[in-house]
Amino acid sequence: MPQITYVQPDGERRSIAVDAGATVMLTAVANGVPGIVAECGGAAMCATCHVYLDEASQPFVPPVSEVENEMLESAAAGRRANSRLGCQIAVPAGVDEIVVHIPSHQV
Ligand code: FES
Repeated sequence: MPQITYVQPDGERRSIAVDAGATVMLTAVANGVPGIVAECGGAAMCATCHVYLDEASQPFVPPVSEVENEMLESAAAGRRANSRLGCQIAVPAGVDEIVVHIPSHQV
């Protein structure tokens, strides 16, 4: 079963088994992972689900869409090259693990 691994700013890691297609945001909220606020509920309109996608996971996730790209500009913790909206990235079929790093703050 694939999994999503969340790495907190202090380095604590938590892996959650998911089905293919599970999003980083919904999985975090459903499992009480700290640091994912998701104010807009997944509509790509708040940037409070901001994560840094681990380098090893980048080949498995589709590129940033235009809407996601615009919203990432307002990410509270500051945008990096690997910034993504957690509501817009999911575990693709055939991928064992997606790793994301939680920013220090979301608002
Ligand atoms: S939950 Fe609002 S942009 Fe992802």
